[in-house]
Amino acid sequence: MRKTIQSKNGRDVLTLAIETSCDETSAAVVKNGREVLSNVISSQIDLHKKFGGVVPEVASRKHVENVNIVIQEALDTANVELKEIDQIGVTYGPGLVGALLVGVSAAKAMAYALKIPLIGVNHIEGHICANYIEDKTLVPPFLCLIVSGGHSHLVFVEDYGIYEVLGKTRDDAVGEAFDKVARAMGLGYPGGPLIDALAQKGDTKAIKFPRVYLEADSFDFSFSGIKSAVLNYLNGEKQKGNPIVVENVAAGFQQAVIEVLVYKTIEAAKRKKTDTIVLAGGVAANSGLRRMLTEEGKKQGLKVKYPSLTLCTDNAAMIGCAAYYDYLAGHAADLYLNAVPNLKLGEKYVRYSQE
Ligand code: KG4
Ligand code: ZN
Repeated sequence: MRKTIQSKNGRDVLTLAIETSCDETSAAVVKNGREVLSNVISSQIDLHKKFGGVVPEVASRKHVENVNIVIQEALDTANVELKEIDQIGVTYGPGLVGALLVGVSAAKAMAYALKIPLIGVNHIEGHICANYIEDKTLVPPFLCLIVSGGHSHLVFVEDYGIYEVLGKTRDDAVGEAFDKVARAMGLGYPGGPLIDALAQKGDTKAIKFPRVYLEADSFDFSFSGIKSAVLNYLNGEKQKGNPIVVENVAAGFQQAVIEVLVYKTIEAAKRKKTDTIVLAGGVAANSGLRRMLTEEGKKQGLKVKYPSLTLCTDNAAMIGCAAYYDYLAGHAADLYLNAVPNLKLGEKYVRYSQE
């Protein structure tokens, strides 16, 4: 098992990484997988806010406008010239197909022109790898809870690039539930950070929302029920003419969600006999989740780690890290690389060409 950070042939490897899977156009230069020389993120949030969520067609167009500018800025900030880049890493799924295609096309053009390897990266794997950047000492095996706007997975990371998916959501992703509940409360988009901030001022016990654990031995999740329970509560109170204490709704909802996440994550860590849990994805920025998982983990003798806020949400540095480990494992793509909107964790790109 490979346990140390190493470069191919003992020399430094510079990766230029591109991420355009949703509403962030991002490019980064990463040295030997874990040293971030630049991580430029151009967020489209303001553009999508007025629609209450990401509009795929609008996202693709904005990526087209931004991608070259963001790539150039990443090179300039890193003080690196294109000719020094050893490989291009790009997110090719999962995500919005039109958005992914912008990054994939830019990456293919650059890899072809520069005659350097092209690596197709799985976005979820990128989120896991954000932890390798945050903590330079982190090595597999460990358990990872990935919670974002599109995904909720409990994954055992056996080694670099080797994953066992223990459970995932059967309906809404956690971030999606936060965003939908926030929308119903009239808070705006994205809802996660807004609910997080309100919840800190509310009483977690004032309103009891359901906790959905599913079957006793299952590590799957379901968040559509709690989302509906909050919407029903809001409608019911409105009909009765009662005032709604938004802080308490936010606190009650968040508590119900994180109790389930924390319980299942700790049970999964015990099942896999690992002493390390890491968080990943946009919802890993949630202050309540970070606090409760750390506290409950400590009681069980488990170490809990999570990335800084910038590395939790979508960014290209995490893609550069994943691309580096793919490169060491020999998973280079070719120019047939295409966007795969529903790409599964652990699926590797199969080359068509032999060159
Ligand atoms: O990983 P990410 O940037 O994009 C996807 O790959 O989906 O995650 C975005 C999601 C959104 O649903 C957003 O509301 C949620 O992460 N989020 C949060 C927080 N910050 C972002 N959810 C709860 N608490 C937060 N502090
Ligand atoms: Zn993401």
